[in-house]
Amino acid sequence: MDVDSETAAIKGVAYMDGRWMNLSEAAVPILDRGFVRSDATYDVAHVWKGRFFRLKDHVERFQASMAGLRMSLPLTGHQIADIMIECASRSGLRDAYVQVTCTRGMPPAGTRDPRLCRNRLYAFAQPFVWIADEAQRRDGLRMILSRTQRIPPESLDQRIKNFHWLDLTMGIFEAYDRDATIALLPAADGTVTEGPGFNVFVVRNGTLATPARGMFEGITRRTVMEIAEALQMRVEVRGVHAREVAEADEIFISSTAGGIMPVVNYEGRSVRDGRPGALTRRIEELYWARHEEPALSTPVPYAD
Ligand SMILES: Cc1ncc(COP(=O)(O)O)c(C=O)c1O
Repeated sequence: MDVDSETAAIKGVAYMDGRWMNLSEAAVPILDRGFVRSDATYDVAHVWKGRFFRLKDHVERFQASMAGLRMSLPLTGHQIADIMIECASRSGLRDAYVQVTCTRGMPPAGTRDPRLCRNRLYAFAQPFVWIADEAQRRDGLRMILSRTQRIPPESLDQRIKNFHWLDLTMGIFEAYDRDATIALLPAADGTVTEGPGFNVFVVRNGTLATPARGMFEGITRRTVMEIAEALQMRVEVRGVHAREVAEADEIFISSTAGGIMPVVNYEGRSVRDGRPGALTRRIEELYWARHEEPALSTPVPYAD
């Protein structure tokens, strides 16, 4: 595909540091430290059937990430939310992936002092992004335990959403090399952390467990915990050893990019009978049902 047809295929709307444009025209200045140093933070929310899911929670988490990286914007949380809503409404997309990014910006010519940069806001709405395709969501995913360790939280607080994705990206390559589609990254102590764009849950004897540390605290993960509480299921937030993943009755992943997705094969071996588990399915159903709740959703005011 040449560059022109590549960009023509991009659908969506972007807000680039104060200006609106088609997503196909959106470009970051090459000297922005967000690009040359991964000096950025971001958040991703989704719009489903014309409504944002947990928009306020996403904006609050984005603001916490900015504070963690010593970034600030002259915008309130409401104003950031309004920009995200406008991205969705201008795009016309009823099911959308909406990303908001704050970059450090550009240092004055000839300097590298991050304190001198004006932080910038970029946002865009594009068609919904799924980690797993339709068949994988129906039949379940094949997951491996990556040989690449997740960047440790002592080096980078993984609760701050960041662009340091090379460990995760190498995991994706490794998964494809080993006849799988997703990779779970371990920590140095043999526990597991998360994968590219998702958190992980294991079910054993009706109890859920999910890692406590070394990973991004997903809003989908939070929603799963709330659903489990409503179902009076026990949820343990603690170190989860790779061995426990191998012995689980059910495994699923959680992400804004697709919700709750079953894993039916781990390290080349079937998880129980190799079919998505009943608890996973129940949680998935309740997760999507929550998108209709007025307290958790925000309607997008479309022009048509
Ligand atoms: C590294 C990582 N872990 C976990 C998640 C899941 O977070 P959320 O459920 O808020 O989408 C994401 C983002 O989608 C992510 O990038």
